[in-house]
Order: sequence, then C-alpha cells, then structure tokens
Amino acid sequence: MLRSKILSTGMYVPPNLFKNNDIAAMMDTSDEWIRQRTGIEQRYWVDENTSTSDLGVEAANRALKNAGIDKSEIDMIIVATLSPDHEFPGTACFVQKKLGLPGIAALDIRQQCTGFIYSLSIADQFIRSGTYKKILIVGAEVHSKGMDKTTRGRDVAVLFGDGAGAVVLGATVVKDAKTDSHILSTHIHADGTFADELWTQAPGTGNGKDRINEQDLLELRQYPKMNGKTVFVHAVKRMPETLLNALQVNSLTPEDIDLFVFHQANLRINDMIAKQFNIPEEKVFNTIQKYANTTAATIPIGLDEAVRAGKLKKGMLVASAAFGSGFTWGSAIYRW
Ligand code: UT7
Repeated sequence: MLRSKILSTGMYVPPNLFKNNDIAAMMDTSDEWIRQRTGIEQRYWVDENTSTSDLGVEAANRALKNAGIDKSEIDMIIVATLSPDHEFPGTACFVQKKLGLPGIAALDIRQQCTGFIYSLSIADQFIRSGTYKKILIVGAEVHSKGMDKTTRGRDVAVLFGDGAGAVVLGATVVKDAKTDSHILSTHIHADGTFADELWTQAPGTGNGKDRINEQDLLELRQYPKMNGKTVFVHAVKRMPETLLNALQVNSLTPEDIDLFVFHQANLRINDMIAKQFNIPEEKVFNTIQKYANTTAATIPIGLDEAVRAGKLKKGMLVASAAFGSGFTWGSAIYRW
C-alpha cells in the first residue's frame, strides 16, 4: 500500500540563550516560578535581523541533508507558523525563495501548537493520493518579537521560545505494516468557540475600521493574550482524548508505543497525560526544559532531538499529540 514516511528530521534554534534568571532581570518573575509552573529552564530568542523563514530554512537544510536527497526532489513546502515573516504572502513563500525552489506548491498552516500535526496530516493525504512524492514540512516560530516582555505580559512571555524543526515526508510502499516505516494515521480537530482564549487580536480585519489603530496599541492588542487556566483545562482533556482515539483506530494500546513526542506547552500537562496512560517516564521525550514552547516547531524539534539523542530508532512506534490556540488539537501515530 502507498503510504508516507518521515525520511529525515532537522532543527535549528538561534544562538541567543535566555535562562530563566535572564528573563527575571526583565520582568517580575523568577526561575522558581517558571520551573515549578511549567518545567521551562531556558529558551532561545532571535536577534533583530532574524525572521521565522530564516529559522525555517536552517531547519529545512538540515532535514534535506539528513534525507540525503537533492532539494530538487521536493514537490511541496508546508510551513506551519503563527509568527509569519509578514502578513502576506505566506512564510512558505519566503522559505521557498530562500531555498531556491521556485514553481512547486508552497502552503502556510495557521494552526498554532497543532500546526505540525495539521501539516503532517495534509502532506500525508497528498502522498497517499499519489499526487506528490516528497514534501518538506517546516514548523518555525519567532515569538520573541511579538510578546510583551515586561511584567504586564509575564504570564505569556516566560513560556515561549524561538526555533524551527523540519521533516521530509516521502512516499513509501508498505509491505509489512508491523515493521515498515510509515504514518499509520493522523487526527485533527478544532473548536473555534474558544478562539479568543489564546490569541493576538491586532492587526486584523475583525477590529472595526482599521486593522490596527492607536487605541489597539495603547490597549496592547498587538500582544498575545491567554486565559492560561482555560487553556490548561482543555489541553489535559483534548490531548488524551485524541491520543486514545489514535490508539483505538490502530488497535494499539499505550504499551505498544515506544516513544511519545508530545507538544511542549507545560511539563505538568505532559506529566498528567503520561500518568493517565500509565506511560513510563523514559518513553516520553520532553524538550520544554531547553527550548520552552516553540509552538509549531515543537514536535519536529522533539523528533530531531530524539533521533540525535539515540532515543528514536528505526522500527519504533511513535505517538504525537498537540493542543493549542484555536482551540486546535490532534495526534499522529507513525512507525519510524
Ligand atoms: O501551547 C499553547 C497552549 N498553552 C498552554 O497549554 C498553556 C496552558 N496554561 C498553563 O500552562 C498555565 O496556566 C500557566 C503556566 C500559563 C500558568 O500557570 P497557573 O498555575 O495557571 O498560574 P496562574 O495563571 O493561575 O497564576 C498564578 C499566579 C498569579 O498571581 P496571583 O493572582 O495568584 O497573585 C499570576 O499573576 O502567578 C502569577 N504569575 C506569575 N508570577 C511570576 C503569572 N505569570 C507569572 C510569571 N512569574 N511569569
């Protein structure tokens, strides 16, 4: 059967490291608060000359190199981001330009923390249908340029890091589903009822006469706002729900999964899921301590780190789940 598989991974974070104590020097917070509430110890933030597509291209080049393929083999580029280079055109077009791949399809996905799962799902459909053979998926974010880095914005500013992860997805003919690498299934969801529980209001055409005006700036509508408790409550409900669904669809139990690479919004969320499913600590690969929440980049960064750490090896069964703004959530199961 014709399926897709992850051929390679790559990641990139900018060089500027900010430990929790560096953040505490900018606003009223502490290393203790951040660690206890989230598990985050540090994050990387870009300098003023670096954009989301710059990070994305670095990760993409590493993934292309690791796949051992020439970039001319790529049929489509998908970029998942909530922090685009510009309002339009999509960041995938800037990544495409910088990679030097004119002519192929370039698509932006705006599904925030679930962006990578949505991208994987879309790419998987294009490959299963026989339309494309190789698709480059990039998750990339520059949060640091869009957050209120004062005490006013501390509930959000301490949580997010910049970075990019990429995978090359390729067509494969699966002969033995129990051993051959492939995506078993993807599951994507959203509930826009909660769209303004975690959002950036301006600029936008939903703001009356102007997409952004002085009043918006005075009222700080250009910065993300989050109702953290509501997001938390829904995350610990939806992530297990979609993970369970993915397992059931494939007639699998949590014990069958060799490695869980979840989205990284809060270590407490992932610990709660692990407890609920009785997953031993060593089977959950967390990166939030090092990179904080990098939204759409998080899962591909996790996959690349896991490969390089020797934790993710050929033949292993992997499960991912994510939850984020929208609300959006989703899961995927794949044999590495
Ligand atoms: O990836 C996108 C999805 N995002 C998420 O999944 C995030 C989900 N939410 C969370 O992870 C948690 O709600 C947070 C980590 C964001 C917050 O943790 P919390 O335990 O819900 O804290 P809280 O918002 O209830 O705030 C507790 C206290 C408040 O002070 P008072 O009112 O109790 O005096 C806040 O003002 O902590 C204060 N606070 C801070 N203190 C120091 C909020 N942010 C900070 C901070 N440093 N950075």
